[in-house]
Amino acid sequence: MSKKILDWNEYIEKSAETVSEGIVMLRNENNALPLSPDEEVAVFGRIQLHYYKSGTGSGGLVNVSKVIGVTDGLIERGIKINEELLEVYKKWDEQNPFDIGAGWGQEPWSQTEMPVEDSLAAHIAEKCSSAIAIIGRTAGEEQDNRNVKGAYLLSDGEEQMLAAVRKHFKKLIVLLNVGGIIDMSFVSRYSPDAVLYIWQGGMVGGLGTADVLTGKVSPSGKLPDTIAYSVSDYPSDKYFGDTERNFYSEDIYVGYRYFETFAPERVMYPFGFGLSYTEFEIKLLSSQILADKAHLTVSVKNIGTVSGKEAVQLYASAPQGSLGKPAKILCGYEKTKLLAPSEEQEVTFDINFSDLASYDDSGAAGHRFCYVLEKGEYKFFCGTDVRSCEEYLSVVIPETKTVKQAKQAMAPVLPFKRMKPVAENGKLAVGFEDVPLSEINETARRIDALPTELPYTGDKGIKLADVRNGKNTLSEFIAQLSDYDLSCIIRGEGMGSPRVTPGTASAFGGVADSLTGFGIPCGCCSDGPSGMRLDCGTKAFSLPNGTLIASTFNKSLVTELFKLMGREMSANKVDCLLGPGMNIHRHPLNGRNFEYFSEDPYLSGTIAAAELMGLHSEGVTGTIKHFCGNNQETNRHNIDSAVSERALREIYLKGFEIAVREGGADSIMTSYNSVNGLWSAGNYDLCTTILRDEWGFKGFVMTDWWANINERGKPVDKSDFAAMARAQNDVYMVCADGGKNNDNTLASLENGTLTRAELQRNAANICTFLLGTHAMDRLCGITEEVEIINRHDENLSDSSEEVTFYNLDGTLVIDGSDIRTDRGSDFIFALDVSDLGLYRIILTGSSEQSELAQIPVTVFSMGTPCGSFTWNGTGGLPVSFECSTNCFSRFTTIRVYFAQSGLKLHSIKIEKA
Ligand code: BGC
Repeated sequence: MSKKILDWNEYIEKSAETVSEGIVMLRNENNALPLSPDEEVAVFGRIQLHYYKSGTGSGGLVNVSKVIGVTDGLIERGIKINEELLEVYKKWDEQNPFDIGAGWGQEPWSQTEMPVEDSLAAHIAEKCSSAIAIIGRTAGEEQDNRNVKGAYLLSDGEEQMLAAVRKHFKKLIVLLNVGGIIDMSFVSRYSPDAVLYIWQGGMVGGLGTADVLTGKVSPSGKLPDTIAYSVSDYPSDKYFGDTERNFYSEDIYVGYRYFETFAPERVMYPFGFGLSYTEFEIKLLSSQILADKAHLTVSVKNIGTVSGKEAVQLYASAPQGSLGKPAKILCGYEKTKLLAPSEEQEVTFDINFSDLASYDDSGAAGHRFCYVLEKGEYKFFCGTDVRSCEEYLSVVIPETKTVKQAKQAMAPVLPFKRMKPVAENGKLAVGFEDVPLSEINETARRIDALPTELPYTGDKGIKLADVRNGKNTLSEFIAQLSDYDLSCIIRGEGMGSPRVTPGTASAFGGVADSLTGFGIPCGCCSDGPSGMRLDCGTKAFSLPNGTLIASTFNKSLVTELFKLMGREMSANKVDCLLGPGMNIHRHPLNGRNFEYFSEDPYLSGTIAAAELMGLHSEGVTGTIKHFCGNNQETNRHNIDSAVSERALREIYLKGFEIAVREGGADSIMTSYNSVNGLWSAGNYDLCTTILRDEWGFKGFVMTDWWANINERGKPVDKSDFAAMARAQNDVYMVCADGGKNNDNTLASLENGTLTRAELQRNAANICTFLLGTHAMDRLCGITEEVEIINRHDENLSDSSEEVTFYNLDGTLVIDGSDIRTDRGSDFIFALDVSDLGLYRIILTGSSEQSELAQIPVTVFSMGTPCGSFTWNGTGGLPVSFECSTNCFSRFTTIRVYFAQSGLKLHSIKIEKA
């Protein structure tokens, strides 16, 4: 048995460091920042008492004991805060409680702001010259942001606050505690001296923020998205938010690819931009063009007066050719080490030309379904944002060449127009062309490549451990599985399966007794992406959100942070984190942008790869999600993304490809939506042709929770596990019981629409993955103990409520109508049992929330979880779940924990089993 240490203090410091490196400073005038150590600062905005550590939904449900917000962080880092103002906010907040909303996906985007009386601002300004004003936003699963006041736009209350503070204070510093970008027109209205995106920094976000404000750390975060003047400037705006079909007519011209090509004047802050307290000079030292790559070495020198880091960015441009190209694409970036004034560092870039190739889906370049480098001039630009970078090198490719042959896959089936540059008065203007349509038949392609069946051997006594020890082959092992076993292994069990860590999202692998009999362990998945979501109330570390992490432009730092996360997962026996989320920030209003990284696929892919490398170094993994084209929350379950194959390959699949090829991704979650008419969960070309055949993916694929499945031309059928299995989407997440479920697998085997060989292939993918997990280690008697040290919040109990005793003599029914079920509440009661033995606990509740709402409830008996259930929206109808507990002694304490609001509890019934 080996033992590892996870030092909570190191976790806190690494997380705070990540926050301080991800904060993006957009403006700093009048020497507003850093704050001087002896000045007293006035903090405005109620968010100082309610820091948003993340957005909402599955990615926002990490239970923490404490969140360190901006004010706490400043105090902890020794800055004097104006106490009088803080007290005013605390009092007002007491009288105007924070609105937690009505549950899953129902949290308000912002909170009512405290009106700032002119006299109050004037009075406080007599003592303080600097004021910090904090604006906070949340959004998340099932709730896109909207271009309305209090969401993408500032609320009237926030405008009033900024106006009053601006009027009286010499220096106004605006901090944006938000998941993604918001409207920035307030900058011209109030001319704040400093503006910083502090994003959502997880449970210790306030510490990293304070480190930047005090100057302990010079900001070095860079925008992972373009900030345009208005939401309508984004090219996807016309199509985003449709409830049935979203046409991706802007094609590959997403974010800066659009703005730099067609509309540079609509950009307020360019992609990659972010200020520092110091200045850097970048110079080209050497460059070389080799047969298949460009090699550049630049020097980065700190020419300012304080130490700092810089994120050097390399962009490339390609000739317009016949396909059309964006003005620039990001092809490399590096964060320097901490450079003292006058210190200098060399940074080297090696760029493969093949990474600059375009996908010819129309045949316009003469090489249909190939990645091509069209003839002409390729240029490389280096600098600190997409706009100001300078040309350093150029190379002419004399003849168009193909760098990779692919197969047409996932192409549109419905005609629509897509954007393509046209030359107009010596400039590029927006033109449109017809999108090339699919010419293939996925079913025929699949049937042509059917795997060969392993003849059924029955149980030969081979356990999975024998494969691991090299005694038997995986094929010999799989050949033993019966049709029934194979039908079970493609079922994920959850949420809150008792087979794995309590309160987690799913168990997979050994989810039926016959499978565990073969020595197949249960893998455990937990949300994700910014910390573990443990619905039974267990506390975990909450990390900074995806947008912040991408803004660091620092791969090694991200790897270090996720190594700690990996260790925490090991300590909790979690094998797969359900993250990183890596859908493209196609539109600023996507509710889940906070979980994702960027509008750019290269940045998204490389940051995801960095996270995975950290997790892998601890023997656990992340699940890259949502594969693919899941770029809006509105009607996310039913929305079709109509996208060209070129845009898929160059934008929406690209980041995933990088995470697979460079990050060694071995677990993927498909998305809820359909792409060009086929739901991802049953999409053969997505999960096989592209993912495995082209990219060489060797891991396993799971669906999103309760995802839709269909086959081309057939209606949606959630029980069509056969379509899923055929596509090589290996596991359906989630079923209540892995051993029995109402799906069509066995019937499809019988009628020949699914082969045993296809199921054996799923089983092999799942088992190959499980062979490398700690779950498998444990089955083989290898245990790795992780001791968490310096965790001051350990064993904290959430509840101090009075416990009511009920006599249990036969059957007991507790009326649920008076029980508080809002997020984080507990209902604790004790049973006085006259007849000891096994009892059933049946909870009945209903919810008016959406069909996909997740309302997790965990039942603990004497502190041990005995059931964890997730209600979805029930349309108001009562739905029951049951678990059981042994009442060994006269008194048994039961705790029911509600991890999310939105459930109307009807009753709790307890009866002898
Ligand atoms: C989300 C996934 C999440 C899953 C499990 C779904 O609603 O889309 O991202 O991992 O739930 O909580």
